[in-house]
Amino acid sequence: MLDFATWLESTAPALFVRESLNGFQILVGIHLMGLIFSVGTLLWLDLRLAGLALRGTSIAMLNRQLMPWFATGFIVMIASGLVLFAGFATSAYANPFFLIKLAAILFAGINAWLFHRMLGRDVRTWDRDPVPPAPVRAAGIVSLALWTTVILCGRMMSYTMF
Ligand code: HEM
Repeated sequence: MLDFATWLESTAPALFVRESLNGFQILVGIHLMGLIFSVGTLLWLDLRLAGLALRGTSIAMLNRQLMPWFATGFIVMIASGLVLFAGFATSAYANPFFLIKLAAILFAGINAWLFHRMLGRDVRTWDRDPVPPAPVRAAGIVSLALWTTVILCGRMMSYTMF
């Protein structure tokens, strides 16, 4: 893994992040815009699932309207995250906050997949409930908790990697 990380740090995108005048700031800015468009929109869907906000809005409609924004922001975030990682691969790959962050992203994906498989099918039965059934609320709260973990670990990486 160390060999791979060392090679990654010598690639052109990595040099741009690490050695150019403003490469790092530009990439972190893009990473955070991705965060705003993805987690920033998912926040409202999760709060709606948890029965804490937008209680008069159809959940299916909210999902349909927010998902393209989420997906676009998510792709930007992953792409910019990969370039940031390349820049500091040798210090990032063993960083505990980086590993927790990746695990939390994975669990957030699993939570969303389980939600769609197990609960999403009968969305019509609770679509307009101001406070949806407990398992739906739980999926929203778990998602919020996992994305909060991702963001906290992202911030902690900045203080522990260099
Ligand atoms: C998809 C969800 C993601 C979220 C919500 C997220 C969030 C964040 C946040 C909030 C920061 C702190 C920025 C700062 O300190 O100013 C950060 C930094 C960072 N992220 Fe991500 N990130 C995500 C994905 C990724 C991925 C997939 C990678 C790499 C494979 C990655 C690599 C990095 C690196 C290397 C930094 C450190 C940059 C610095 O020191 O500021 N991120 N991320």
